[in-house]
This record gives sequence, structure tokens and C-alpha cells, in this order.
Amino acid sequence: MNFNFELLINLGYIVASLLFIIGVKQLSSPETARRGNLNSSIGMLLAVILTLLNKDIVSYEWIILGIVLGSLIGAPAARLVKMTAMPEMVALFNGSGGIASLLVGWAVYQVGSGLGIGTMLPIFLSVLIGGITFTGSIIAYTKLAELIDGKPTIFTGQHILNIILIAVTVVLGVFIVIEPTGITHLFGLEAYWLFITVIVLAGILGILLVIPIGGADMPVVISLLNSFSGLAAAAAGFVINNNVLIVSGSLVGASGIILTNIMAKAMNRSIGNVLFSGFGATTAGHGKVVQGEVKPISAGDAYLVLESARSVVFVPGYGMAVAQAQHVVKELGDLLEANDIEVNYAIHPVAGRMPGHMNVLLAEANVEYDKLREMEDINPTMNTVDVAVVIGANDVVNPAAREDESSPIYGMPIINVDYARTVIILKRSMRSGFAGIENPLFFKENSRMLFGDAKQSIQALVSEFKAT
Ligand code: TAP
Repeated sequence: MNFNFELLINLGYIVASLLFIIGVKQLSSPETARRGNLNSSIGMLLAVILTLLNKDIVSYEWIILGIVLGSLIGAPAARLVKMTAMPEMVALFNGSGGIASLLVGWAVYQVGSGLGIGTMLPIFLSVLIGGITFTGSIIAYTKLAELIDGKPTIFTGQHILNIILIAVTVVLGVFIVIEPTGITHLFGLEAYWLFITVIVLAGILGILLVIPIGGADMPVVISLLNSFSGLAAAAAGFVINNNVLIVSGSLVGASGIILTNIMAKAMNRSIGNVLFSGFGATTAGHGKVVQGEVKPISAGDAYLVLESARSVVFVPGYGMAVAQAQHVVKELGDLLEANDIEVNYAIHPVAGRMPGHMNVLLAEANVEYDKLREMEDINPTMNTVDVAVVIGANDVVNPAAREDESSPIYGMPIINVDYARTVIILKRSMRSGFAGIENPLFFKENSRMLFGDAKQSIQALVSEFKAT
């Protein structure tokens, strides 16, 4: 009877895992993404319900308290979070995943006795990866929320310190895993305190991993931490012998690594280079001094430029998210098309503050998917475009990445808006973007600056079109 019940739970876990896998697959296309989200959520609900039926649960009081507390914090946070603050929220989610896995590993170590290598190894891994993910994500959160300076923090001997700390952690890990209780006096410390030292070292390593990363490289580290949170959860799954946790953790770990690779590719950097070089650090170049004249344009004149164009490409960036301009952008796009002007939307893979940020916003405004063009797809046609309209984008259209070897973003692929006949740039000031560097695009001969909030500027253009 008991055996059958467990079999039933494991069969349910397989169904939940299938729903996760189908969900992830469906997330890869905007048409099926909503269904993918729903399927994954149903899978998670099923997994939670089945886990609550586990006969090993001694008492439900703490679980209920956890559900109530978590819901009280999570539900309002998810409802109230602004779209622009989503990346910070994702960073916190990653961190929560990390600390949860750490606590699972720690708890089993604390109450277990005579644990073998098969349990001690995953305990060590869940505590190590979970700890790194937790503190790393907190630092990433504070950088994204601009609570601390987003610039990389580099100090002499940083790499050596990292190597020493990693080596000490691994050595302690080997002792703990092989002899969980036997080594009672390594460096005068009892086994338990060696374990606590590993937790502290993991936390320090997480901080040291993220502080040297800044500027345009943050997307890579966030997706890497996302992957780590999955790996820590998979390790925790081995600790408590929970199959669905192993599967879901591995899925997050694997998809996070794929995303990290995509992000690194988008920056034209290797993951190692991102993690160990310190973007925009004092040792790196600051780029050439930009020369040229800034040419502001009024909405009325911008209308005349657009009205006489045959092809227009919108290039959205973080500023479109801040201004919540996506609906008026779509309205302007429709008006241009009604005037027989070809309209496309060029999406840079790291535009905004999270993967797919621009796609989500434009999908919300019902822009047709086939009008969203990827960077590699749009760039070869850019010199045939009459007007490129840059909506709150900055780093992802910075030609210094192509032209200036001394620039910190040199080598990062960009959308070549400066190849269009005219570029109209919508932003509020001459301030730099996330990477904190100057943009020579604003000074180019064919560039015009339409200063102001992107939504208001686009609205003014829409009014001009409607008035005629
Ligand atoms: P950014 O380079 O950050 O530039 C955004 C621009 O939008 C700013 O220069 C700002 O100029 C303007 N802006 C802000 N609010 C505005 C408003 N209400 N109306 C009009 N303009 C407004 O953005 P990007 O080009 O999208 O590049 C993304 C950057 O973020 C990259 O460096 C990328 O590496 C980094 N990043 C990306 C991610 C992911 S996964 N996508 C995650 C973390 C970091 P004003 O202040 O003058 O208006």
C-alpha cells in the first residue's frame, strides 16, 4: 500500500516534470509563451501538492506558516513591482532560491547522523552554490536598484584572493564530505564549525564574484546566478531525495547556462572574460573624447522627416520601458504604415534590463511578431533605411563599440542605426546609459536629438500625424 502510494507520487512528479519541459519549450516563442507559463505553473502546483502528501512530513504547522508568510510578501511584491524593476525582482528570486537550497542542506546536516558521501556531497554543493547565489544575487540586486555604484570594484590581488578562498573551500569540502563527523580537530575546529566556515566562505565568494562586474556585463552575471540557483536546487533535491526538485533544478541550471551563453555572445565576450576582466574598471579604456555637434529637433520637424520616409525602423531600449511608451509606439507605427511607410522594430538581445524585455513590452502593445527583427537580421539592411527612431536606447546603439578600440564596450555588437539616412534619438538629456559611457552617435552628422520623455515625444508625433 505504502509502496503504491510512493509510486503514485513519483508518477505525478514525472507528469509535473513533463509539464515543466513542455512549458520551457513553449516559452521559446512569443505565440506560445503564455501557455508555456501556465503549463509550468500547473506543473509546479502539482509538484507542491504531491510533496505535501509526503508521509515523512512530521507536522504541517511550519509549512503553513511558511506559505502564509511567503504569500503575504510575494503576492503584493509581484503585483506592485514596476515592469522596469523586474530585473531586480528576478535577482531577489535567484537569491531566495540560493538561500533556500543552502538552508535545506544545512538542516539535513544539522539533524542527520552518520551521513554517507552520497548525502554529504550534495549537502556541500547545495550549501556552496546556494551561498554563492544568495550573496551574489543580493549584490546584483543592489547594483541594479542603484543602491550601490554599478561600476566594477577591482582591487589588487583580487584574483589571488579568489583562488585561495576557492582552494580553502574545496579542501574543507573534501574533509566534510569524506569524514562528516570524524575530523573533529582540523585547524582546531570541530567538523560542525568547518561546515559553518564553508557557508561563510560561500557567501564571501558570491560577493567577490559579482563586485568586479558592472556596466553592460550585468545581463551575463544575472543569467549565470539564475543558473546557479537551479544547480543549488538540484543539489538540494539529491539531499532530500526529491526527484521533481532534481529535475526542475537541472532545468533551471541548464536553461540558465544556455541564456548566459546567449548573453555573452550578444556582448561578444566569453563568460570567463566577463567574470574575470572587470568591465569598465579603472584599468580599462574610457573611449575617445567625443567630438561634433548635437542637433536638437522639435516634434514638428521630426514629423516632417518621418512623413517623407519610405522605411522606418524603431529601436527600443530601456528608456521605452521607463516611459511605458510601447502603446504609443505601436500607434505611431500603425499611422506610418497607413501612410505606406514600411515599419520594423529592431531588437538588441540586451536592450532594457532583462532578457526579452523589449519583446515583452512590444507584445503587450500587440506589435506583430514578424515585425520584430533581430540585430543580425536588421543590420545588413540598415543602410537602406530612411529613418531609425531610437526610443530610449543608448548602449545598444553606441557606435564606439564598433569604432573605438579604447572604449570599454569595444567589440560588443550593436544595432547600426548610424547607417540609416537619418537617426532620431528620443531621450530626456545627454546622460549616459547603463554602461556609463559617452555615445558618439548623438554627435553624428545624420543624428537628431528629440529631447523629452519618450512617451510624450511619440505622443506629440502621433498628434502631428492625426492633425493632417
Ligand atoms: P541604456 O543604455 O541603459 O540607455 C537607456 C537610455 O534611456 C538612457 O540613456 C536614458 O537617457 C533614456 N531614458 C530613460 N528614461 C527615459 C524616458 N522616460 N524617456 C526617454 N528616454 C529615457 O539602455 P539600452 O540601450 O537598452 O541598453 C541596455 C543596457 O543595460 C546595456 O548596457 C545592457 O548591458 C544593460 N543591461 C541589460 C540587461 C538585459 S538582460 N537586457 C540586464 C542588466 C543590464 P536619459 O536619462 O537622457 O533620458
